[in-house]
Amino acid sequence: MSERIVLAYSGGLDTSVAIGWIAEATGAEVIAVAVDVGQGGESLETIRQRALDCGAVEAYVADARDEFAAEYCMPALQANALYMDSYPLVSALSRPVIVKHLVAAARQFGATTVSHGCTGKGNDQVRFEVGIQTLGPDLKCIAPVRDLALTRDKAIAFAEEKNLPIVTTKKNPFSIDANVWGRAVETGFLEDIWNGPTPDVYEYTSDPASGIAADEVVITFKEGVPVAIDGKPVTPLQAIEEMNRRAGAQGIGRIDIVEDRLVGIKSREIYEAPGAMALMAAHRELENVTVEREQARFKKTVGQRWTELVYDGQWFSPLKNSLDAFIGDTQKYVSGDIRMDLHAGRATVTGRRSESSLYDFNLATYDTGDTFDQSMARGFIELFGMSSKVASGRDQRLAEGK
Ligand code: ARG
Repeated sequence: MSERIVLAYSGGLDTSVAIGWIAEATGAEVIAVAVDVGQGGESLETIRQRALDCGAVEAYVADARDEFAAEYCMPALQANALYMDSYPLVSALSRPVIVKHLVAAARQFGATTVSHGCTGKGNDQVRFEVGIQTLGPDLKCIAPVRDLALTRDKAIAFAEEKNLPIVTTKKNPFSIDANVWGRAVETGFLEDIWNGPTPDVYEYTSDPASGIAADEVVITFKEGVPVAIDGKPVTPLQAIEEMNRRAGAQGIGRIDIVEDRLVGIKSREIYEAPGAMALMAAHRELENVTVEREQARFKKTVGQRWTELVYDGQWFSPLKNSLDAFIGDTQKYVSGDIRMDLHAGRATVTGRRSESSLYDFNLATYDTGDTFDQSMARGFIELFGMSSKVASGRDQRLAEGK
């Protein structure tokens, strides 16, 4: 039997050509793997058929939308994961779930090698290959664009020569990666970082200045996961989809940043993640109400480290697992309702209520009912400032040469 290679297949031009390209370059049989993470577009069945028509010996398709939402997006929500304080890890989150299915398919079809359509300049090659090495240490990796000189022009020529059932004429100026957590757009005129994004860049969000009326929403969380919207029970996937629709209509979650890639390049990317950004705003505020101060302060650091690990393709690493355990523990009491106004590009929290709240009205109030003994504050401040006061006394003494 000839060697078998499993290919991460999107249904687009590059990976469609890659099927035949890899087969010709290596003599191996190619198995196409398509994973639905909520990117929209064509059905899995259409994609499956195209893979076979392009010469794949087998095609494995998986609807991973619920798995992706529950096991990848929800941990990111609980971590309040924003790389460089801005980017909600859209692509970085989808790679590990795709890797899981690639490795499963490799086992199922007896493949020795896994392949993907990434270039040699981005983060995604790292995420795929580090993930594959970790879940399948015996598997090899090959990237036709990077390792087998598969350029865009050659791909178009190959598709035309072999009469592949794929449109080669429609030239999309952008490189786009999308899933239910958001959408990433780069290249084309966006590579000049002085150029502002044009309206055609966006798909998940409407113009925030469209002037439509505000939308009030109540999101119910249980242990850091949204479980109901306006009182109606939702799965994680449904929560993201519903908030994509409602926050997207208000133009919430548009992000335009120059980011630091793991490979050392700074790149400009436009993101839109309306559901993710709205849910995160709600989740963060519910944490403000329910998480104890020291735990909350420390969690911010942990969340940031978690985010960098995931961005850097370390989803399956021991440190990421340990941080998951910490973050999971902090979510025990993050339950309750957050009311938000979605309007003109902003998700603004207007109310919170929780059975596990740490907000104590009687401690906080300046009105009657105040149970806080203000006389305790004097001594507290005295002791709290003591070590700085002692040090400052020393500094002054030495400065005066005594
Ligand atoms: N820069 C983002 C990341 O590394 C997105 C990568 C894919 N972007 C794209 N437009 N194809 O996570």
